[in-house]
Amino acid sequence: MNAKKKLDIKIAIDGTSGSGKSTTAKIIARKLGLIPVDTGAMYRAVTLKVLRAGVPVEDEQKVVEIANNTDIDQKVINGSIRTFLDGEDVSEAIRTPEVSRWVSIVSAYPGVRRRLVELQRKIAEKGGVVLDGRDIGTVVLPDADFKFFMVASLEERARRRMKELQEKGINVSFEEVLKELKTRDEIDSSRESSPLRKAPDAIVIDTSNLTISQQVDLIISEIAKKYPEVREIAQEKNHPDMEAGQIDN
Ligand code: DC
Repeated sequence: MNAKKKLDIKIAIDGTSGSGKSTTAKIIARKLGLIPVDTGAMYRAVTLKVLRAGVPVEDEQKVVEIANNTDIDQKVINGSIRTFLDGEDVSEAIRTPEVSRWVSIVSAYPGVRRRLVELQRKIAEKGGVVLDGRDIGTVVLPDADFKFFMVASLEERARRRMKELQEKGINVSFEEVLKELKTRDEIDSSRESSPLRKAPDAIVIDTSNLTISQQVDLIISEIAKKYPEVREIAQEKNHPDMEAGQIDN
């Protein structure tokens, strides 16, 4: 059965940092033969370009100008989503604490959002996609076939984030991680332009006490209510990420 041909659907997965949405979206995409789009990585790529150019993040006009003159592309290579900034693979460079620190400011600018939303809609146009982000169900794809909103307690998200940083050899205190997540939550939820908000028709999944495999199963079950064939399509052996910790920066 050709999953890509069969499932011409659009899935929106939104949620807070560390809710497990990126990992879940990636696995769902692979299991169902859909194209995964990590929209957070796109905002990170613009932020990286701004920092590299030495432009103050507060200079909205210059930041928007950079966003408008930037080419961002994503490809799945060896099972992982790689992000390209003007042709350069920046998948690792966009995950530094410095980029994480400034990305909320950059992504709050309406001009930056306009540019990236346009790009995301273009990618999603043909269908067969899973987009994860903050405004997918509300702004980017209000007509998505399935919308999920993933949440988890602040403490659990901080624990996951800390584990990920430690694995990279970055040492930070639990309090620092907690504070950074809290600040990002506040900026992402309170900004004027497309704040993090659950779409009225989105299904909420609290991942605080769920394994990745349980999250994936929940989403597959929802999709199966409308498309029973996904059960068969998803019968592939587990993705390696299902055994790893869940990571959302
Ligand atoms: O998912 P992430 O942590 O990589 O996202 C990085 C930042 O980008 C986050 O602070 C919120 C912002 N973002 C956004 O505003 N809209 C999206 N669709 C995705 C991410």
